[in-house]
Amino acid sequence: MRTEKVVKLEELFDKVAECQKCMIAQYAKNRVFGDGNVSSPIVFIGEAPGMDEDACGHPFMGKAGKIYDETLQAASLVRKEIFTANILKCHPPEQIDPVKGNRKPAVVEVINCLPFLKRQLEIIEPKVAVVMGETAARALLDLPKGGPFSRFVGETFEQGNDIMKFWEPKITIGVTWHPQYIGYRGDDEALWSSYVKTFRKFKEIAYG
Ligand code: URA
Repeated sequence: MRTEKVVKLEELFDKVAECQKCMIAQYAKNRVFGDGNVSSPIVFIGEAPGMDEDACGHPFMGKAGKIYDETLQAASLVRKEIFTANILKCHPPEQIDPVKGNRKPAVVEVINCLPFLKRQLEIIEPKVAVVMGETAARALLDLPKGGPFSRFVGETFEQGNDIMKFWEPKITIGVTWHPQYIGYRGDDEALWSSYVKTFRKFKEIAYG
């Protein structure tokens, strides 16, 4: 049976699929809406679909996805039992012609797309939204500028920025690194275990 949440998310998906606010929408092979358990108490949020995700329509399928899966597993979380999404629903290619590479979302793309994520969170109503990486963290939170992003990692926030602040019930926002950053750092065991610790911490808040 399709639950009320599923129906609402399907309606939202249709709006995402129709959206042409950004030029990148013309080139997206798929809108990467996000997937998983629509009743999850925890939602993990990345930056934007890369080429792998654009090709198949699901978040975190490429190299970063492998690290994400391994980290979930190390924190005893099961991917299909949680929900995974991104700030952008369309892949931002580095070059339009030919369409290839990945680049960071432009500010205007984040502003255009963020209301979709806000609506997803309003429907799913998780206890915790985990923002992975600086782009996702700054999209949801008014973080002070300057200094390394790492100083926010492991922290939780009870209020989002102007676009994200009207949540009822309130959602705790947890900050961690993007899986791609962990991948770039190779075999840094200390970093890896700190990363897993942040997943465990947010899981405990979500599941109590
Ligand atoms: N990076 C992201 O932020 N999201 C994905 O889905 C894949 C890579």
